[in-house]
Amino acid sequence: MISAAVAAFAAASLAVTLQAQVTERPLPRIVKKDGRFALFVDDAPFLMLGAQVHNSSTWPAMFPKVWPAMEYLSVNTVEIPIYWEQFEPRPGAYDYSMVDRLLKEARQHRVRLVVLWFGTWKNGSQHYMPEWMKLDPIRYAHMIDKNGHAVDSPSPYAAASLDADKSAFTAFMRHLKTADPERTVIMVQVENEAGTWGSLRDYSPAAQKLFEAPVPAEVLRAMQVSASTRSMNWQEAFGGEAEVNFHAWSVAKYVGQVAAAGKAAYPLPLYANAALRDPLKPGAPGSYESGGPTDNVLAIWKVAAPALDVLAPDIYQNDPAAYLKVLELYHRDDNPLFVPETGGPAANARFFFSALGLQAIGYSPFGMDYTRTANAEETTKEREEFLKPWAMNYRLIGPMQREIARLNFEGKLKAVAEEKLKVAETLPFGAWNAVVWYGATRNNRAVGNPEPIGRALVGQFKDNQFLVTGYFSRVDFRPADPDKHRQFLRVEEGTYENGVFKFLRIWNGDETDWGLNFGVEPVVLRVSLATY
Ligand code: DGJ
Repeated sequence: MISAAVAAFAAASLAVTLQAQVTERPLPRIVKKDGRFALFVDDAPFLMLGAQVHNSSTWPAMFPKVWPAMEYLSVNTVEIPIYWEQFEPRPGAYDYSMVDRLLKEARQHRVRLVVLWFGTWKNGSQHYMPEWMKLDPIRYAHMIDKNGHAVDSPSPYAAASLDADKSAFTAFMRHLKTADPERTVIMVQVENEAGTWGSLRDYSPAAQKLFEAPVPAEVLRAMQVSASTRSMNWQEAFGGEAEVNFHAWSVAKYVGQVAAAGKAAYPLPLYANAALRDPLKPGAPGSYESGGPTDNVLAIWKVAAPALDVLAPDIYQNDPAAYLKVLELYHRDDNPLFVPETGGPAANARFFFSALGLQAIGYSPFGMDYTRTANAEETTKEREEFLKPWAMNYRLIGPMQREIARLNFEGKLKAVAEEKLKVAETLPFGAWNAVVWYGATRNNRAVGNPEPIGRALVGQFKDNQFLVTGYFSRVDFRPADPDKHRQFLRVEEGTYENGVFKFLRIWNGDETDWGLNFGVEPVVLRVSLATY
């Protein structure tokens, strides 16, 4: 009888041989040029049209409820967790079966993956640590709160936890490197909503000592605190924000070390996601998750965790003004905009266009598979109704995502979504202004849609040639020179197939006399203009 070890060796050799036959594709990477970012996949800008599965969906028995939903949504990327508890069932014994299964199924379904490393932190807690860690809370310590009680959150000063996470994450990344020459995985999330609910920081003796010590100079610089002649401790430097800033530094340092270890094994783009604080009326420390990459501490995270390429907001804001503010806050000169989780009412789907207008490299609503619904009675059909507003975005943009990503990287794209009481807006393109209206009928003026669900996108191919698309909106052009008038030379409707525009017909007459109108159907236009 062949021993298990020999069989495993033979299987591994076969896998290596098969892998060797696959041509290695270029590494995905984030590129910055002229102040704009793009995610390069296969050496060209790529727009991630993503959806994230529910938390407990990475099990083969759940996959039949995952892939059909992804297909319905027309995603090109699936965000899906790998659980530390599954990956390292015994100390140092790594189980790669789920990673391999995921790679195989994703390839069969022709989608890319963003893998979420549910490691030390998941929503501020340590619930995904393997059992053998949970059973040893002295070694793999929890945080200690102000009153000396253990909190349901890992200590960022638990050296054994850090070592274990670094080793496991490195093993995971090293495996990806050999198992994925196709680059099915294009990005990895390190931890999930790291930070703490229920305590502002760690009050363990080790943490307390550091809290009373001088603030590292790079933190003062990052937070633009002018250094006085004597060194300042956290309280002196930051007053009421001292504890959240200290915890952000502590957590970011830890996550940064996990990220750096993994990146040294396999340099894929890495990011961390944030449970947000209210962007318009931020409450006092304690009213939001402490320690994560919230908007007030992004600068601390950037210096503490340089191996992370992106700090990304999980946007569940229902207030449109708050949603848009979050997009602005995370679209920075040192940070590409990426929305790894979002949700809320159906009308929020329109903000995908707002994100594109800020050069987002990717977007991903959360909990989009069929494994779990709030309503047990819900049928697949009803579930699809829930997915539909998000699916509409991807069905429209998917076939031309490379074009959109390229135009955005070159600074030639503008996209907007409707806001209540704002029925028109102007998008400047040099000699032309594109004007967008919502709720306009024939030659009637715009009044806004009954629900603000309008969205529009304009890309500039050449001085007088544009790509125009949208839903529930009207787009027209005005010459920037007020003495001139616009005339349509040619308005072509078409579809993108494999990145190439395929002509369907020319729009004229009723189809152009009142502007270019977009309804519920996915319509793509290529518009050539002239003046008289
Ligand atoms: C945000 C987390 O990052 C997700 O994993 C998930 O728990 C959602 N919240 C819950 O809706």
